[in-house]
Amino acid sequence: MAGETGARGLVGKRALVTGGTRGIGAAVVRRLVEAGAQVVASARGGAEGLPDGVGFVAADLRTREGVEALADAVLERLGGVDVLVDNAGGARPFRHAWEITDEAWQEQLDLNYLASVRLDALLTPGMRERRSGAVVHVSSAAVPTSAPPFLHYTAAKAALENYSRGLALELAPFGVRVNAVSPGRTATPGGEATREEWGKLVEAGPGQDVTAPPLGREGRPEDIADAVLFLVSDRSSWLTGRNLTVDGGEFPA
Ligand SMILES: NC(=O)c1ccc[n+]([C@@H]2O[C@H](COP(=O)([O-])OP(=O)(O)OC[C@H]3O[C@@H](n4cnc5c(N)ncnc54)[C@H](OP(=O)(O)O)[C@@H]3O)[C@@H](O)[C@H]2O)c1
Repeated sequence: MAGETGARGLVGKRALVTGGTRGIGAAVVRRLVEAGAQVVASARGGAEGLPDGVGFVAADLRTREGVEALADAVLERLGGVDVLVDNAGGARPFRHAWEITDEAWQEQLDLNYLASVRLDALLTPGMRERRSGAVVHVSSAAVPTSAPPFLHYTAAKAALENYSRGLALELAPFGVRVNAVSPGRTATPGGEATREEWGKLVEAGPGQDVTAPPLGREGRPEDIADAVLFLVSDRSSWLTGRNLTVDGGEFPA
């Protein structure tokens, strides 16, 4: 097992996982710890269930100040990061296009797009100097559908994917890799709440039918975490600027 995890090149690497206290982020934290990385998780709260040895920084990433406070704390504790997983995000509230307020648009852009842009800007210069590092942005398999009723969410994640590809090109000459992972419906607290609200809208009329993915089940957080781990490990050392959809075959690529 040690050989297996060691072969990924993650032993002793310093990693930050945003939204690392629940769902997909928590599974990424567990996988990184198993692989021997030194991990810090962030969220607004709820650090209780983190594995032993994992650091925690409380920060609300919807504001520039929150992102800066997180970056400062991580730089102070770890001196820099080798692995950055920009995972914090969420889709609610669901609204029809004509009901989405400026504030709701801004909140979705801040959480699902600008938080990553701001955090990357603060933490990738160290990777650039060291000429190594890996960043993963967690997007959503729903982006290509632009499906209602969460246009502000899919638009923000679409911007994230476009930016992720561009950042990969900027950082490739410095040996820093940047990729995205796009989960399909995954059994997490956020995912369950999303589908409950979605289900109510379907009952009410507009929206989309909720059927099972072709592989016959929802994703587990570990399904997504394994893809993230691959993308931050040496096993994907010739892979950058890509978006890996992990969705049981459900969505168009
Ligand atoms: N689950 C799915 O079906 C699914 C599908 C497609 C894409 N995704 C994407 O996958 C990522 C993880 O989703 P998940 O389902 O694991 O979500 P989740 O169960 O709701 O967990 C979200 C995590 O992000 C943190 N977070 C939320 N808002 C935050 C904020 N303003 N500032 C800092 N941290 C914040 C949460 O902690 P606090 O609340 O304590 O801050 C928590 O640790 C998200 O980007 C989501 O859009 C999920």
